Amino acid sequence: MKDSWSPASWKKRPIAQQVRYPDADALRDALERLIQLPPLVSSWEVETLKQQLAEAAQGKRFLLQGGDCSETFDDCRSSVIANKLKILLKMSLVLVYGSKKKVITVGRLAGQYAKPRSTETETRDGVTLPSYRGDLINYSGFTPEQRQPNPQLLLRGYERASLTLNFIRALIDGGFADFHHPELWDLDFVNHSAHSDVYRRMMTAIGDSVSFMETMAGVPIYGFRQCEFFTSHEGLHLDYEQAKTRQVPRRTGWYNLTTHFPWIGDRTRALDGAHVEYFRGIANPIGVKIGPTATAENVLALADVLNPGNEPGRLTFIHRFGAGKIERHLPALIEAVMRSGKTVLWCCDPMHGNTITANNSLKTRDFDDILSELESAFAIHQKMGSILGGVHFELTGENVTECIGGARGLSEADLQKAYESNVDPRLNYEQALEMSLLIARNMSR
Ligand code: PEP
Ligand code: CO
Repeated sequence: MKDSWSPASWKKRPIAQQVRYPDADALRDALERLIQLPPLVSSWEVETLKQQLAEAAQGKRFLLQGGDCSETFDDCRSSVIANKLKILLKMSLVLVYGSKKKVITVGRLAGQYAKPRSTETETRDGVTLPSYRGDLINYSGFTPEQRQPNPQLLLRGYERASLTLNFIRALIDGGFADFHHPELWDLDFVNHSAHSDVYRRMMTAIGDSVSFMETMAGVPIYGFRQCEFFTSHEGLHLDYEQAKTRQVPRRTGWYNLTTHFPWIGDRTRALDGAHVEYFRGIANPIGVKIGPTATAENVLALADVLNPGNEPGRLTFIHRFGAGKIERHLPALIEAVMRSGKTVLWCCDPMHGNTITANNSLKTRDFDDILSELESAFAIHQKMGSILGGVHFELTGENVTECIGGARGLSEADLQKAYESNVDPRLNYEQALEMSLLIARNMSR
């Protein structure tokens, strides 16, 4: 099977979530132009991340992965990007403190533009149209024109991914000082929490540690140039992924150079399906979302196909069961993987199994459910002698009201105030930071 892989061999497999373009010539033209554009990332960055993920699987580093459920083209703006970077870097600093490990910071950004959907169509007031599948594919507006897949959006998406990543690289290279000093963070919400004393002690300790290091080194902490940042997105739209898959000089193998760390979604991980076929042939570190329908046999078979050489850092299982289901589902998978001797990095996504519909019919998630799934994940891995090496969040640096709970006690009635997501609800700035404080507290115990 391995010999017959090519960047296009997925086309011979059954494909879930496929996009049907009305004009095949227009799709071909767009893809031909996409192929000509330079890559967004380099193979050495990809290999560096793989090495770091291998260390995370051994418990020597910790992975923080987060960002929007789906980026939108409208949100390709400096403030939104900078705020997302800031919250991720702040959370990673908190997690360094809690875990006493280096944290690998990976954004769900610069290409997270395509969405899997539970239904092909959406009906409003008796009108049925194709579902919105993310800005890479169609528009969210509810008209037949806007819901028609448009191949030009593949190019617009790639350009926006490039703009996003370019800005992030510039901020990080320039020393992006904003996140180093907790005393400058917006921490008002801390006062509203029952844990405010704990939070304050942690923030003071982090601030003191940063000052201590700066004094010792004699330079501001951004002068260390230690800050690395990687990108990830769901590799859902295989025409897009294939177009940027190439071989590079002096290395063997094929690299997906749209992103460092693509993942396979829970809906597209069929063993004989197109997505697994495409992913098995690329050299990047890859993730697979693992939901409640996955069996121990499924995950072992996925590990066989996706990582036959058992290469460290190559494969991350991102489990996402839901707070009420994790105890039932996770232990058997951990046990099977441990018994097989396979090397994987385990990461917990406490978002996608905890989506509920509020009374006002908005999709939401409860802060307490998210935390509960995370706490269970840490406890189960620890009890079984396994390692939870990372966490995966849907979050934004903005002050949205999409998830309920957290220190300010956002209620269902608050959701309307600033509900911006077209897809899944995200933790806002304060909820995301608070979540990292709670995880850090758990890890430091
Ligand atoms: C997602 O990460 O946005 C997503 C759709 O997740 P999953 O594949 O786990 O459902
Ligand atoms: Co999502």
